[in-house]
Amino acid sequence: MSGTDLIQSELGAGILTLRINRPEKKNALNLAMYQALADGLRQADGDAAVRVILISGCQGCFTSGNDLTDFVAAPPDGSDSPVLQFISAISQARKPIVAAVGGVAVGIGVTMLLHCDLVYAGNKATFQMPFVNLGLCPEAGSTLLLPRIMGYQRAAELILLGEVFSADKACSVGIVTEVCPDEELESTARNRALQLAAQPASAVRLAKNLLKREYARPLQETIAEEGREFMTRLESPEAAEALQAFMQRRKPDFSRFS
Ligand code: COA
Repeated sequence: MSGTDLIQSELGAGILTLRINRPEKKNALNLAMYQALADGLRQADGDAAVRVILISGCQGCFTSGNDLTDFVAAPPDGSDSPVLQFISAISQARKPIVAAVGGVAVGIGVTMLLHCDLVYAGNKATFQMPFVNLGLCPEAGSTLLLPRIMGYQRAAELILLGEVFSADKACSVGIVTEVCPDEELESTARNRALQLAAQPASAVRLAKNLLKREYARPLQETIAEEGREFMTRLESPEAAEALQAFMQRRKPDFSRFS
């Protein structure tokens, strides 16, 4: 399947829906999918017919994050790599973004939410940012946004231990706007997107811009710095052990690295 089949795009009632659709790999994002998401977000910004962007997953899965096999086979190699283009597009989008999170949200599946404006989660959704567990470092500006949203200690717990956490916890720490029953997730997110699409569009864009203005520049600097560190970490022995362990379906052993 091409990137465009794996990211289904549909425009209706002023809402551009970008649906992540690779259920057999738990919606892991490969290069073509990042590119399709980046292109979709950029085109939406220039298309007057789009008033709101809605990002969702499928079959009870939001996304298991970056395709781990790509970390080995096709690692990001510069600021024009698809993953960095996606992060740049979502972090600088002018139009409002709504996310509907059902099932697993891992890695960039969580950090992308920090750039969305309204985030709805099904009550059985789970969240995890296992960057450190994989010998990597956090990305997408999350090292700036997480402590800002929830305070240092709570951000440190989620990042340094990298444990799975619930939708209720995601809501209580400020990553999620509202938790709803799983079966109502799609309708809740869509209704909120419709409500947003009916708002005066240029006032919405201005308010979004002003809400983010104070940290807009440091955010882009942080994204660039995290990106450089991330690429270096991908070549570290710790990351090699973690990625090998994932492929071999075993627990990683970091005891020989200091
Ligand atoms: N990259 C590549 N493949 C992935 C993937 C990822 N991020 N997440 C899941 N998959 C694949 C699995 O390898 C498996 O493929 P296979 O059927 O060919 O063996 C398939 O998707 C189903 O995954 P599985 O692990 O069997 O499902 P699960 O329900 O038991 O667990 C997850 C789901 C998401 C919790 C688990 O797959 C996982 O932890 N994935 C890695 C997440 C991750 O570390 N992402 C990167 C963060 S930076």
